[in-house]
Amino acid sequence: MADTEPSGTGGENIRYSSSSIIALLQEIQNIYGYLPRDIIKKTAIEHSIPLSRLFAIATFYNAFSLEEQGRHIISVCHGTACHVKKAKNLSEAIARHLNLSGSEGTTPDRLFSLKKVRCLGCCSMAPVIKIDDTIHGTMTQTTVIQVLRKLQKGMLHE
Ligand code: FES
Repeated sequence: MADTEPSGTGGENIRYSSSSIIALLQEIQNIYGYLPRDIIKKTAIEHSIPLSRLFAIATFYNAFSLEEQGRHIISVCHGTACHVKKAKNLSEAIARHLNLSGSEGTTPDRLFSLKKVRCLGCCSMAPVIKIDDTIHGTMTQTTVIQVLRKLQKGMLHE
């Protein structure tokens, strides 16, 4: 069982479970909004955790990001049910609307980040997107842009 691993940074014998590493990474992400690479490196040294182990966990979970995120996170589900219902078209429509070159990324003004995620757990509403903590189901290319426009309009009045 690979729940704990010995340190590989200096021979210390401190062991960290996956859950305690996740807690550490969550703490960093709560502070910075993402996981800056230099902070991860410092954390690896300070806690005698192999850097590879930190990065393996940081990249395994969708909840973590190694890149600076926008103020609003738009997650497009590309799980099986959503894939079948053409989630790809939603990603493309959102990317076009936000002038992003790929189907993932962050706008230069750092207002929006677009990402693909696996099943959001509400497959009966496929295709599904999540904006921050709000789920929007049975989306089409038209309704997804309507939702975005409404959000952008609301931001103008903040
Ligand atoms: S596959 Fe998209 S919510 Fe499950």
